[in-house]
Amino acid sequence: MGKDVIIACDFAGRDQTIRFLEQFGNERPFVKIGMELFYAAGPDIVRELKARGHKVFLDLKCHDIPNTVGKTMKVLSTLGADIVNLHAAGTRAMMEAAMEGVTRPDGSRPLVIAVTQLTSTSEERMRSELLIDAGMQETVLHYAENARDAGLDGVVCSPLEAEAIHKRCGDMFLTVTPGIRFADGDVGDQVRIMTPDKARANSDYIVVGRPITAADDPVAAWRRCVREFVD
Ligand code: C5P
Repeated sequence: MGKDVIIACDFAGRDQTIRFLEQFGNERPFVKIGMELFYAAGPDIVRELKARGHKVFLDLKCHDIPNTVGKTMKVLSTLGADIVNLHAAGTRAMMEAAMEGVTRPDGSRPLVIAVTQLTSTSEERMRSELLIDAGMQETVLHYAENARDAGLDGVVCSPLEAEAIHKRCGDMFLTVTPGIRFADGDVGDQVRIMTPDKARANSDYIVVGRPITAADDPVAAWRRCVREFVD
């Protein structure tokens, strides 16, 4: 898969999601299904979007004991998603179990990427609440290395971290970056943001939610993202 724009379909249910995607006519953008939509609509939403021709990033951020995550990944691999993810904080053993579980009997599997530190976590809270004394950058890079060593394909990270992650883990290690805003757009609650054209240098995929879903013309906003990030 090459560079692409992934639309975060942060909707409360199936019908709203389908109505949103119908605006795109024959175009089939890459979509992200997060916890809200998955827990509301169930696994059928993944099957339905795949059947309609979309690529799907299933963003469930699994984090549990290795045995549970391995078995969960086995179930998720049957849904046909193109990318699934988990928390690197679950340890290398958990990530290795995930890789084993996600691999289908024929050897195929979705891409698996890890969340390092959520972009909503500040260095201060990481230190005072999680008792992690290493700085944010070093923590993110170390978690990314753990993910790479466990055989994962990449990480979800801030676009501001993507360059350092490629340097540490190699160019083939994928960086999937939310926190994307147009130069002339609303920032919302995102803090460490970047425009699509700037993200292009180091991100392999950008995840874009409200700049597309809340736009007056979502299709035009998506096209603008593709133009700035991919073309
Ligand atoms: O609307 P917005 O463009 O901010 O949406 C970004 C999407 O990426 C949301 O679905 C959010 O949950 C997700 N995300 C994020 N930061 C992370 C991981 C995921 O914004 N570190």
